[in-house]
Amino acid sequence: MGEMKMEFPYKSLFEPIQIGTWNLRNRITMAPMTRCFAEDESGVVDQDIVEYYRAKAADGISLIITEGITVSSRAKGTFNLPGLYTNDQVVSWKKVTDAVHEEGGTIIAQLWHVGRLTHRDLIGGFAPQAPSAIRANGHVHRYGKPFDQPEAMSVVDIKKVIQSFKLCAENAVRAGFDGVEVHGAHGYLIDQFNSDVTNTRSDIYGGSLSQRLTFMKEVLSAVIEVTGANRTSIRFSEHKDDIKEFQWSDKEEAIKTFIEAFNEVGVKILHPSVNQYDKVIMNERTFHQLVRKHWDGLIIGVGNLNPELADNAIKENTINLAAFGRLILANPNFVYKLKKGIKLESYDSKKHLSKLFYNS
Ligand SMILES: Cc1cc2nc3c(=O)[nH]c(=O)nc-3n(C[C@H](O)[C@H](O)[C@H](O)COP(=O)(O)O)c2cc1C
Repeated sequence: MGEMKMEFPYKSLFEPIQIGTWNLRNRITMAPMTRCFAEDESGVVDQDIVEYYRAKAADGISLIITEGITVSSRAKGTFNLPGLYTNDQVVSWKKVTDAVHEEGGTIIAQLWHVGRLTHRDLIGGFAPQAPSAIRANGHVHRYGKPFDQPEAMSVVDIKKVIQSFKLCAENAVRAGFDGVEVHGAHGYLIDQFNSDVTNTRSDIYGGSLSQRLTFMKEVLSAVIEVTGANRTSIRFSEHKDDIKEFQWSDKEEAIKTFIEAFNEVGVKILHPSVNQYDKVIMNERTFHQLVRKHWDGLIIGVGNLNPELADNAIKENTINLAAFGRLILANPNFVYKLKKGIKLESYDSKKHLSKLFYNS
């Protein structure tokens, strides 16, 4: 008796795709994940981080989205976050991008400003920056103090932060990144502008949802000028890390308004973020299905995806790329395991978060 031939189950997930200059060997994307292993004072990344990202590319992941990288010293929300606004930081990231490229991978830098979700002790004694002077509930990650009272940004502050994003996009190119992702999700600075809970401004940066998206649009325009639309992704979400109960009053309308904003500034790659990819949120559709209903461009899917779910989502064209977060941390040889049909280990933060490398 011959062996039973099983058909490879993840054909769509392993289908190559060309996006602008990116030659992606499959659809497997590493979701952005803060690791807190950068040098705290300088925001420089070291050789361990080079090897950490190299290993992901060597495993076969096609697109790596880095951990959130701060765009200025005031953008930082906890200890040991990397930056991309000094020359030393750029030089340190160049080693990462070289390593990833040596292994045939593509890597983009996630640009991040935490806004009010920090404390003055972490950002040189300055008050946290926010659209309005509204303090967040909760505690600073790994610091433990309550979030600090932020100050409302002036228009001059806003223009400076937009310039920081632009400078970091330029630095990303200098550091050899293949593009950038703007972190507009999860309740951080851009998302604080997007939400009516945190943005009560009466100037052009406040008002209706489409008006509140002005800051995000200006950041995106500035970044796209540098990296181009084919190399720029925007991450956005309904959920906020600090306001668990937050919901849009009409989810589909909100998504449509976001997409209008993205079209206005010429964005081509969306990374809509949810915690549970297959959760129906409105009109019998999931978040990503609602985005797809109104958007023909590229979509990166994410949110507790497993390989089967991801493969189907790509096959039915809801998403084009599938980002995995915790499964990639739990399985350092994630792609190899998928290819060989080896069972995946489930994520355990105690085991998989405290170190960059461990014996699997
Ligand atoms: C340890 C950890 C760090 C994260 N850091 C970031 C981050 O820096 N930027 C971001 O946009 N999302 C961040 N996320 C969210 C992930 O990108 C992803 O959306 C989330 O983990 C859901 O995907 P998963 O279920 O495949 O893990 C983080 C998640 C984890 C588990």
